[in-house]
Amino acid sequence: MLKLLSFLSALSISFCAVAQEIKLPAPQTEGGMPLLNAVAARKTTREFSTRPIDAQTLSEILWTAWGLTHDGKHSIPTSQNKQNLKVYVLQADGVWLYNPEKNTIENISKKDVRSILNTQAFVKNAPLHLAFVGSDKKNSPMHAGSAYQNVGLYCASKGLNNVVRGYFDHPALGKELNLKDNEEVIVTQAVGWSK
Ligand SMILES: Cc1cc2nc3c(=O)[nH]c(=O)nc-3n(C[C@H](O)[C@H](O)[C@H](O)COP(=O)(O)O)c2cc1C
Repeated sequence: MLKLLSFLSALSISFCAVAQEIKLPAPQTEGGMPLLNAVAARKTTREFSTRPIDAQTLSEILWTAWGLTHDGKHSIPTSQNKQNLKVYVLQADGVWLYNPEKNTIENISKKDVRSILNTQAFVKNAPLHLAFVGSDKKNSPMHAGSAYQNVGLYCASKGLNNVVRGYFDHPALGKELNLKDNEEVIVTQAVGWSK
């Protein structure tokens, strides 16, 4: 009986571990709009349908933001090569942390926290918000800026709408993301399809 109980408990632990992590499809890392066309097309659009972001598109959004591209390094440069950006995914199904090494998103909470970002009504339909987090007062905003620019270019190429947002309750969101004391949400970016 004891053996059966410990077997069942091990099973439930491993089930939890699996359930807490989602493997994303491999990102498509070739093609898209020519770079100069994407630069010309990038813009803020404050209008979203509720249509969810599919796993393939999410994988590519995250790869452009912070994926591994060369020599174990990322799609954006970081000061002193510290590689110290964190990218969180906020969707209806909860809060997730992107793991670029494994190409997974790891569950932080099952709570839909997007309402914290509804300080501007036009984002209330947005299916996805990225939250860029760092702990380096001087350089984290620059890292976040590089990442949101890459995402903005990807959105231009893919026909997605996006808006970078600094206007929200930063400490309230940081709490929901379970950040360490020295970490903060630098900025967020709402992404979604047109209505
Ligand atoms: C750091 C940063 C914070 C921003 N915060 C907001 C915001 O809170 N709300 C908003 O509607 N737009 C925000 N924006 C979007 C800017 O208003 C927008 O980029 C600007 O009007 C230029 O338009 P464009 O992106 O189409 O070139 C932000 C942009 C940046 C770079």
